[in-house]
Amino acid sequence: MKIDPQELESLAAYKLALSLIVPRPIAWVGSRSPCGTDNLAPFSYFMGVSTKPPSLAISVARGRGGTLKDTAKNILETGVFTVSMASYALSQQMVATSAQMDPDISEFEAVGLTAVDGELISAPRPADALASMECRLVHSHDMESTHLLVGEVLRYHLADEIIREDAKGHRVVDLQSLDAIGRLGGREYCRVNESFKIQPQK
Ligand SMILES: Cc1cc2nc3c(=O)[nH]c(=O)nc-3n(C[C@H](O)[C@H](O)[C@H](O)COP(=O)(O)O)c2cc1C
Repeated sequence: MKIDPQELESLAAYKLALSLIVPRPIAWVGSRSPCGTDNLAPFSYFMGVSTKPPSLAISVARGRGGTLKDTAKNILETGVFTVSMASYALSQQMVATSAQMDPDISEFEAVGLTAVDGELISAPRPADALASMECRLVHSHDMESTHLLVGEVLRYHLADEIIREDAKGHRVVDLQSLDAIGRLGGREYCRVNESFKIQPQK
């Protein structure tokens, strides 16, 4: 089957892309409004884009009526944000933070999560997250329906229990311990705790 994306109405285009581009890691993004309200929301249009400097990108679509979602508004106004990896143990709370809430309501309080302030930036992260990154906005691209936001990672916060050394003594995150979840199409998720190895051909 060939599909011309131009012919799809927006919900159909959304559903097709979400079910096709899988699995997607979930950035659980913490930001703060200029008047000091903490915000937390998940974004699965998320990827690492560089390791030097360590950088990541998220895409924040416009909300209803074309208005900016709180996350995009806060990041564009303050220039900083945190990204935490969503683990299975916190998956219910992660989804709860995706509910549309008034800008003066903190999702942390609404879903019962403790916020920890950044060490280098003024943006919150969930205290219970096993892995978080403090980021500074280095690039924003307004794609009309969406803002692509690129952040440089200034600091990693990693729970000791998720770190192990690999065969060469490098610190790496242990897959089982992080127990990250990924987003699939619709309301489906996967649990990233199974893997297999492929040795490169010599
Ligand atoms: C797992 C998950 C992934 C999501 N990914 C995105 C995304 O990549 N881009 C986006 O604009 N919204 C995404 N959403 C929806 C936002 O989380 C939602 O619009 C939220 O209310 C935005 O919050 P804010 O207004 O506080 O920024 C996702 C929701 C869930 C549950």
